[in-house]
Amino acid sequence: MRKKTVRDLVDLGNGRALVRVDFNVPMKDGVIADDTRIRAALPTLENLLSRGARTVLVSHLGRPKSGPTPDLSLAPVARHLEALLGRPVTMASDCIGPQVARQAAALEPGSVLLLENVRFHKAEEKNDDAFARQLVEDSGATLFVNDAFGTAHRAHASTEGASHHVKQSVAGLLMERELHYLGLALDAPERPFVALIGGAKVSDKIAVIESLLKRVDALLIGGGMAYTFLKAAGQPTGRSLVEEDRVALARELLSQSSGKIRLPQDHVAATAFDAKAETRTAGEVPEGWMGLDIGPKTAEAYAREVQGAKLILWNGPMGVFEMAPFAEGTLAMAKALAKAQGKTIVGGGDSVAAVTQMGVASSIDHVSTGGGAALEFLAGDPLPGVVCLADLP
Ligand code: 3PG
Ligand code: MG
Repeated sequence: MRKKTVRDLVDLGNGRALVRVDFNVPMKDGVIADDTRIRAALPTLENLLSRGARTVLVSHLGRPKSGPTPDLSLAPVARHLEALLGRPVTMASDCIGPQVARQAAALEPGSVLLLENVRFHKAEEKNDDAFARQLVEDSGATLFVNDAFGTAHRAHASTEGASHHVKQSVAGLLMERELHYLGLALDAPERPFVALIGGAKVSDKIAVIESLLKRVDALLIGGGMAYTFLKAAGQPTGRSLVEEDRVALARELLSQSSGKIRLPQDHVAATAFDAKAETRTAGEVPEGWMGLDIGPKTAEAYAREVQGAKLILWNGPMGVFEMAPFAEGTLAMAKALAKAQGKTIVGGGDSVAAVTQMGVASSIDHVSTGGGAALEFLAGDPLPGVVCLADLP
């Protein structure tokens, strides 16, 4: 079911638009370390602002535990957004209350108010209905726009609850784009459809693997989780990361996969989990060593599968790519996706970092802004922040 978006709204009405964005960006010493998520919201904001909407933005930043935390203020984001938009962005000192109501009421057409970190209120994560109502009422909103794909798996007041207190709730253009591309992997994907799944643990990816196995032609496995599968396949794993309590499940998945699951044929093994450890490339992980990356043969075989595919989905690194000696496999996959003829989709923090580090992000058809949200979506789970939005007739 397609969702109504801001583009489908002919008339924005006279009220304010409350726009949920995901400005949960990495910060280092009060400076924005990566503004991808802020830039990703610009198409929606430009659409609304160019049509004279009075726009109130709401987001979280980090996971504040007990009320207002100065380090987690969105104030630096307001200044950065102002520069990106080339329009003034007023910063509120809270997300509800009489002062917010005054600031929202004073908005001129085509201007922006950014509310302070919504997670400074405990009621946000509880999806407290009175709090959701207050967010809407104090901002004077008649329209709710959810553009926060990265947080759409959370049923919070600002991602879901607010939708119950406005006339209309629609998707933003980033949300639309995310649902379109990730949806390609779920609904009748073009074939061959190849998924490349990595990351440390099988346990984090079980639901996604089960969902993808029904849809892919090949599922290429890398990262730490490969060793739980290799153990299940009866291969030596040395001192590699193995989730002992998932070996039986991995065996089950292998037996149900009708040969679609591919496992590494060689490894970059090391004597310790350390960038300075002794390393060697080996077809089997030697006794006492640990596998920390896929080897060159595997990278080549996986790249070949990627080249032959019409649709490629990648989530999770192939090795410990933050340590240079174990980064080659992940970087090789980033290159392979960049060169691929088929449509390419990358989701999840570390694989996104890999394509960015390789400077090939612009050669990927869709780099998702969602980590957990992308995984839940790909597992086939309904996302509360999406379900609450109006369907297109
Ligand atoms: C994210 O970065 O994963 C999203 O912004 C959601 O944040 P959360 O995991 O703290 O809910
Ligand atoms: Mg998360």
